[in-house]
Amino acid sequence: MAKRILQALRRETVDRPPYWLMRQAGRYLPEYRKVRATTNNFLEFCYTPEKAVEATLQPLRRYDTDAAILFSDILVIPDALGQKVRFEKGKGPVLEALIDDSGIDNLSIDHVEKTLEPVFETVKQISTHLNSETSLIGFAGSPWTVALYMIEGRSGTEGTLIRTWSARQPGRLQRLINLLVEATILYLDKQVQAGAEVLQLFDSWAGLLDEQGFRTWIIEPNKWIIRELKTRYPHIPIIGFPRNAGIMTKEFVIETGVDGVSIDHTIPTRWAADNLQPLCAVQGNLDNHLLLAGGFAMEKAALNILENLGQGPFIFNLGHGVLPSTPPENVAQLCEIICSWRNRSAKL
Ligand code: CP3
Repeated sequence: MAKRILQALRRETVDRPPYWLMRQAGRYLPEYRKVRATTNNFLEFCYTPEKAVEATLQPLRRYDTDAAILFSDILVIPDALGQKVRFEKGKGPVLEALIDDSGIDNLSIDHVEKTLEPVFETVKQISTHLNSETSLIGFAGSPWTVALYMIEGRSGTEGTLIRTWSARQPGRLQRLINLLVEATILYLDKQVQAGAEVLQLFDSWAGLLDEQGFRTWIIEPNKWIIRELKTRYPHIPIIGFPRNAGIMTKEFVIETGVDGVSIDHTIPTRWAADNLQPLCAVQGNLDNHLLLAGGFAMEKAALNILENLGQGPFIFNLGHGVLPSTPPENVAQLCEIICSWRNRSAKL
């Protein structure tokens, strides 16, 4: 049996739409909360292969998703570059924010590979547990999104500081972005060597920028990373996720050469079918709050996505990650809707 996610990314026909969910591992699962409780420190959790492998596999024991996504975080890169990163309960990530050029001078690529060795070991171990239908997705944050946390130091700021750097010190921001491009290429290269079959680049804060900013800080760095990885590993498909990018998503796809694009729930699916599917596979885009709510509203929205995108190259997913308060039964209901979809249309 072939891997449906790889088939969709190669634009081949599939027997049903493949699916997986962003943050399919995590706090909404009681078994995750249980292993997570064994370590206070979230980064330490990510750097313990035994625990990270267990967290990765947990959703696959409950659901028939077509992919496992490495359990890690986008903020392991700042940590590996030497910035202080911690995660506080109820607050999210807290970083010792970069304030000027000397903050960037203190970062170094030299220890990245060594620090992230446990993550590569995790990828290796996960690949030995997967059946022949399940794809292993590796990932990283895109430079702008990772830089945002490095400069802001925390979540929930609307990117005020990084946007000020972009306007007043673009050269300084470029230096940081260049370093992140280099670190991300290295990080993803090692994930592929360890067994990742697909890569996803999360640019969760792409939607903060205007048109020119989007080209400079979103398209260019993603393009650079993708070009380099495609040179080294032409057969490894790459999915981009320029969240909240609206109609700029099309330019993103054309310029970066991604094999797939993950779209958030604000993108109309008819627009995506007409404008994006002729260019690449589309992944998305159920509103994660509808998954939280479940029931008929979720079913209606999921069917609408399937009807509009299910004819072209498509991977069903959410528009953003599973929310921690989501009932696991709703995820089971969603899986059932996706897996029985073709049968439904056949009956009509
Ligand atoms: O299942 C999966 O999708 C794989 C694991 C994964 C995590 N983070 C685990 C995690 C992935 C792919 C990420 C990506 C990530 N991390 C992004 C990009 C996607 C997005 O959501 O926009 C971003 C911006 C981050 C940064 C981050 N990590 C934040 C803002 C937070 C705190 C908020 C929150 O959701 O808790 C984290 C922590 C984090 N990363 C948790 C998990 C399961 C929760 C930490 C815990 O268990 O205590």
